Amino acid sequence: MVEKMRILVAGGAGFLGSHLCGRLLSEGHEVICLDNLHTGSTQNLRSFIDQPRFQMMQADVGEPLPGLRVDRIYNLACPASPQHYQSDPIATMKTNVFGAINLLDLAVKCGARILQASTSEVYGEPLVHPQPEDYRGNVSITGIRACYDEGKRAAETLFYDYHRMHGVDIRVARIFNTYGPGMRADDGRVVSNFVVQALKGEPLTIYGDGSQTRSFCYRDDLVLGLLALMETPEAEATPINLGNPGEFTVRELAELVLELTGSASRLDFLPLPQDDPTQRRPDISLAQSVLKWQPRIALRDGLLPTIRYFDACLSGLAQPV
Ligand SMILES: NC(=O)c1ccc[n+]([C@@H]2O[C@H](COP(=O)([O-])OP(=O)(O)OC[C@H]3O[C@@H](n4cnc5c(N)ncnc54)[C@H](O)[C@@H]3O)[C@@H](O)[C@H]2O)c1
Repeated sequence: MVEKMRILVAGGAGFLGSHLCGRLLSEGHEVICLDNLHTGSTQNLRSFIDQPRFQMMQADVGEPLPGLRVDRIYNLACPASPQHYQSDPIATMKTNVFGAINLLDLAVKCGARILQASTSEVYGEPLVHPQPEDYRGNVSITGIRACYDEGKRAAETLFYDYHRMHGVDIRVARIFNTYGPGMRADDGRVVSNFVVQALKGEPLTIYGDGSQTRSFCYRDDLVLGLLALMETPEAEATPINLGNPGEFTVRELAELVLELTGSASRLDFLPLPQDDPTQRRPDISLAQSVLKWQPRIALRDGLLPTIRYFDACLSGLAQPV
């Protein structure tokens, strides 16, 4: 029997947050979604928005929060795609820092357990490969990605300090590239870009020569990892990588998307953006041993429903956000 709880999901109207809200509701919990709808949408909540155990609260996590009593807090509030977080880097930094402070203060008041959606970007351009949690990273302070990378690093620091000073039960997920149905068609990251371009018959844009590597985790696997991290007692106050250790070059991904969509699109090569990491792959030994979690869905199997979802969006049969 799972204990029924009152759970706040900040950023719950986004790609991952909305799927998380759906899972928590299906387990019988009461869910409050707090979101300013910057990159999220109530369209993502449409399958459960009318449920009595669900509440949507449109608010900015960086502003003082309304008084709430909750048992668990998931902090996913922050745009995840470079084109969105770079559109207003100061707002991104404020969301990360003030959002973390506001939610941690709420956790202190309620005695709630709180999970931070951190990121593989805390490793920057990694000099260690694959990246274990004790690798301290190689992040540019001055670059255009710093608002996100350094914002997430500062948020993590706040989490550990609230744990040490106030005894807050904290969980920190370092999430690696995750994809799946529910992403925005204009998300701007590589999986959605390639799938949408292939379905439209447009050239697939590869930045650089396509030899840079990424690991791609399917949405459902990732959300199961977040739930395990929140509810595993041994996972308190230590960062844990969540991602799929399968490593693909961007060119391999493009070719797989072309194969699975049956598209005749060509590949277009453009200059690499500033500070684009050349390789990324999580070391998930800790998640495997502590959470007994590992991703189950191979890239090919996860791309198929993702392609069907974007195909439905482009044909007007599903709602793109
Ligand atoms: N998807 C990934 O590959 C990935 C990888 C690493 C980390 N993450 C982290 O996971 C979280 C969710 O990512 P996602 O892919 O679902 O992104 P997303 O952009 O779809 O979701 C973020 C949500 O946060 C909301 N938000 C943004 N700023 C806010 C603010 N100031 N106040 C309230 N709400 C705000 C947005 O409206 C959106 O609903 C993010 O924190 C992201 O940094 C995601």
